[in-house]
Amino acid sequence: MNFELKSLGLVGVSTEKCDALVVLVHQEFKSAKDALSTLVAEAVKAGDLEAKAGKVCVLYKPAQANASRVVLASIGEGSGRDIRTAVAAAMAAIKNPNLKKLLLCFAQASSGEAVRTAVLAVADASYVYTTTKSKPEPRTLQKAVIAATNAAELQEVFLRAVATVMGVELAKEWANRPANHATPTLLAEAAQELAKLPKFRCKVLGPKEVAKLGMGAFMAVAQGSDQPLRFIVLHYDGALKSQAPTVLVGKGITFDSGGISIKPAPEMDEMKFDMSGAASVLGVFRSLAQLKPAVNVVGLIPACENLLSGRAVKPGDVVTSMSGQTIEILNTDAEGRLVLCDALCYAERFKPAAVIDIATLTGACMIALGGVRSGLFATNEDLANALSSASDVSQDLCWRMPLDEDYAEGLKTSFADVANVAGRAGGAITAAKFLQRFATKYAWAHLDIAGTAWKTGNQKGATGRPVGLLVEYLLSKAEAR
Ligand code: BES
Ligand code: MN
Ligand code: ZN
Repeated sequence: MNFELKSLGLVGVSTEKCDALVVLVHQEFKSAKDALSTLVAEAVKAGDLEAKAGKVCVLYKPAQANASRVVLASIGEGSGRDIRTAVAAAMAAIKNPNLKKLLLCFAQASSGEAVRTAVLAVADASYVYTTTKSKPEPRTLQKAVIAATNAAELQEVFLRAVATVMGVELAKEWANRPANHATPTLLAEAAQELAKLPKFRCKVLGPKEVAKLGMGAFMAVAQGSDQPLRFIVLHYDGALKSQAPTVLVGKGITFDSGGISIKPAPEMDEMKFDMSGAASVLGVFRSLAQLKPAVNVVGLIPACENLLSGRAVKPGDVVTSMSGQTIEILNTDAEGRLVLCDALCYAERFKPAAVIDIATLTGACMIALGGVRSGLFATNEDLANALSSASDVSQDLCWRMPLDEDYAEGLKTSFADVANVAGRAGGAITAAKFLQRFATKYAWAHLDIAGTAWKTGNQKGATGRPVGLLVEYLLSKAEAR
């Protein structure tokens, strides 16, 4: 889909030809003299447009606009959440296969934040997954024009938002694909495809190279599957070589059956989403390609399936990680931390400014924070603060979690340096404590996206999070220089 930011006031908006016009109306909207704002004022006065965010009033070919249909949508107080609600409601109200060109405007002056939120919400509402349908009904919306009187001021925010959409949609695409259409090999090919873009490089390691590196934890997870593992190394070189890179590590379990510690059948299909961290890394690189900021970024993706077979790793097995630390695998379903710990060790070679891993790591994090905020763990205050503020700006929210050493007690074992699970209590934190042992050589943050990476139920599908948060973080780094 194509976005455009156009310098138009409400008079210009009313003459612009389009299939649908969405007018976002603030609760404190004051009418001007033009026909369109008079129409809005009348709808409000007549009680047809309530002030609550998400309330809509649909009009068919009103004389006040050159649009086939007009939706007036309330944004209440105008918060990010209000705008998302309003855009979603408006888009639902005009769902129509003939909707190709959409025009969206604000009835009152609009901020950069509002424009950003609207762009992401329009993309989200019109997104359709089609890859594995025999008769796909793809997104019909081809063009969304955002109208603003102060378009010049908003241009930069707008371009960021559009680039973020591209990253979010790539992440959604890969996360949504079923595991047989998103194998480790296919993920690696997607990374190599991205690396054809300027300033990109990609290297893909297979089982032999990974064995040579001594990634015993990663290999243990992969050994139960017939699909060969892949270790993907993506580079975006946007700044001088002398500038230390930010390393993003994405959990790439293309299917998590739990292994010998097998998961229950209900909802096991959702474990195709267990590579959402990896998908978000690919998505961030897609956005970087668009924006070309002056930063260096490395993406690491350990990709494999967690299955069971006669060759699968067993509870109680002890393996040696790349760091040299031995690990007792008490539960083969705690596989994410096993693939990540070797990737975190590999990350050391880049002498990174920071390493951020992104993983659908624990059901416990989903219980703790639900689908609203991702769990943020960090060993470095500056990094934690920068990620938290990027989370606020992007409205792709996260919440800082603790890393007290007492949480690591349960990981102690007599049979190896560390066990891969502790008790049930504080499961998201004990998982992070496990990872922390392998991330001692640099500033490190961990995002547990188990609750936020996808939606379940009748809206089942990937969200593309936390691409928005990470893109915002990387851009703020580029600006700080
Ligand atoms: N991929 C899962 C985490 C997960 C579960 C994400 C449900 C989203 C929804 C992870 O590999 C896992 O199985 N974790 C276990 C850890 C446990 C064995 C300590 C979990 O959370 O149950
Ligand atoms: Mn698991
Ligand atoms: Zn998993």
